[in-house]
Amino acid sequence: MQHRTIIEPFRIKSVEPILLSTEAQREAFLERAHHNVFLLDSEHVIIDLLTDSGTSAMSAAQWAGMMVGDEAYAGSPSWKRMEAAVHGLTGMAHILPTHQGRAAERILYGHLGGPGKVFLSNTHFDTTRANIEFSGATAIDLPIAEGRDPESEHPFKGNIDLDALGAQLEAHRGHVGAVILTVTNNSGGGQPVSLANTAGASELCRRAGVPLILDCCRVAENSWFIRHREPGQAEFEYRELARRMFALADGAVMSAKKDALVNMGGFLALRDEALAEACTNLLIITEGFTTYGGLSGRDMEAIAIGLDEVFDPHYLEYRIVSTAYLGRKLIELGVPLMRPIGGHAVYIDAKRLYPHIPPREYPGQALVCELYRLGGIRSVEIGSFMFGKYDDAGALVPAAMELVRLAIPRRVYTQSHIEYVAETFEEVMRRRAHTRGYRVVKEPRFLRHFTAHLAPL
Ligand code: F0G
Repeated sequence: MQHRTIIEPFRIKSVEPILLSTEAQREAFLERAHHNVFLLDSEHVIIDLLTDSGTSAMSAAQWAGMMVGDEAYAGSPSWKRMEAAVHGLTGMAHILPTHQGRAAERILYGHLGGPGKVFLSNTHFDTTRANIEFSGATAIDLPIAEGRDPESEHPFKGNIDLDALGAQLEAHRGHVGAVILTVTNNSGGGQPVSLANTAGASELCRRAGVPLILDCCRVAENSWFIRHREPGQAEFEYRELARRMFALADGAVMSAKKDALVNMGGFLALRDEALAEACTNLLIITEGFTTYGGLSGRDMEAIAIGLDEVFDPHYLEYRIVSTAYLGRKLIELGVPLMRPIGGHAVYIDAKRLYPHIPPREYPGQALVCELYRLGGIRSVEIGSFMFGKYDDAGALVPAAMELVRLAIPRRVYTQSHIEYVAETFEEVMRRRAHTRGYRVVKEPRFLRHFTAHLAPL
């Protein structure tokens, strides 16, 4: 029998209680957090969809691996297991362990960057851009046109625009630090990158003599999309598809907090020996010795096991299909979404949800607060509250899009939790016309969304 129901392909052995609050309590918590959900206590959140990063539930095998983690300063067998797992997946000779993704970015882009250098990407994730700009270099995003259109159903909206890439490589000849493909493209809606597009970028990079780097923190999810959407790829295993993608690249940075199914960790993988040597020097100065970087032996065991588990076809099927299930439910309710549904999150287009709230009154933040108040659901605004800047006259320059991300932690929530989220949206939709915006009452100069205070209008 072919079942319609995609079940969670795991049993739950250890549980964490959720504190169920009332709407009145949440109103008070929200008030106390100045209407900024980053300032909430996480015990006061019922369903936490703030991020899929570092929030995975580890398997019994990973917890068992943690007990055998060897904490030697040098030459730990746990490191050998992690190195073998990363080498087996990426095929790259030089593996550097880091405490999370941005540490690998700081080391690599700090070395390849600097004033006058340019980096080209399908879309730089915020920490990637920040590390590049911090080095004095410039980061340029070159997504395909469909990637900027929330309603386009293009199957690989994460692709880089190869014509634009070719032109930029020519225009900045001799000054390009690297080309970076973020798979899947987080800032662009969790959209996948095809193998064909990666091959095209790889060829352009090879001709220009520029390294191609994969930001591969969701590479297993990306492989699911390749197998199911890219012509000619249906018979390959997910792991094999990921290997083919790595084979086209010169290096990779990974935040293991996503597709390695762990709560902390990352790595940098490189083919070139001289580049690896330079990065190793920076690793030892800022993260730690080469056989642990910024990690404990137990973390390295969990990463080695997680990198294997994530390619289990039943896990990946459940993962992608359950994210799409939430998306489908919201579409049925008439909630305007970024289409098609990406791998790790559902992105809501708050500009279309609340057309009566202008960007300067933060329609995305209005939805974030509604979801918390009504259901204790924590999400994140990715719009003018996060990215808006002020012009010289002090007026807000709005972001390109007003999105809210519902990121789904891996192996954490069950289908009934997801039904609860969808049900909360029924009420969001009923109150839609009467929902009001917010104003910022206090903010720091940089990365204001983490700490700013807001008030309802
Ligand atoms: N690259 C991508 C594509 C990411 O999504 C992240 C983190 C990083 C790099 C940095 O990794 O956090 O381990 O230092 N994304 C998280 C998120 C924070 O919520 O999307 P890190």
